[in-house]
Amino acid sequence: MSSKKTDATRRAIVGATIGVGLGIGSLSLLAPVVSLRPKKEVTPESEPPKEGDLLTFAVGDKAGKVVTFDDLPLEGPAVLAYPKDPKTGVIKSGEKNNLVLLIRFKPDELGDEVKKYSADGAVCYSAICTHLGCTVGEWDAAKGLLLCPCHKGLYDPRHGAEVVSGPPPRPLPVLPIRADGNKPVVAGGFTSQPGVLAGTTAAGGSCAV
Ligand code: FES
Repeated sequence: MSSKKTDATRRAIVGATIGVGLGIGSLSLLAPVVSLRPKKEVTPESEPPKEGDLLTFAVGDKAGKVVTFDDLPLEGPAVLAYPKDPKTGVIKSGEKNNLVLLIRFKPDELGDEVKKYSADGAVCYSAICTHLGCTVGEWDAAKGLLLCPCHKGLYDPRHGAEVVSGPPPRPLPVLPIRADGNKPVVAGGFTSQPGVLAGTTAAGGSCAV
């Protein structure tokens, strides 16, 4: 091998070694940052909803009381609720993403995508807007749609809370429910992650609610 070639080969090896070294160095610098990120403590109040949980009014005169089907007016508006562990009596209001909404229709009005998660025509969705996290607490009775007041996001509760208009990037996740006597109870976890997902929302704007 000529000395020119040898030098070139040596330079290439040194370069590659430095590159790998820098890569590992960067990763090892990153590791403490990741591991130092404070872990959110899960308390009984912040646990996600689970099978068998009751649903209790989140606001108003009946706050804390268990929601029954009779409390859900046909064709809306929606009722805001938090899950409640029936064994411990703990209401899971310690996590924003546990806030849900219940709304009721005639069963044959519901689309197939959500009918399987419903009970007696009632459906339950995350009440946290997928845009910037405001509470989807308003009901546009004329359109029959759920309204997020922050940037006028509209969701269709008869069809899986799909986005009809406005900036939300995805539908509201469904919380499956079943009937237990005259009460809707949780039948499983959310069908997808509730709240705002990183990278799904364009920069700008903020949630004022
Ligand atoms: S439309 Fe709901 S936070 Fe923007």
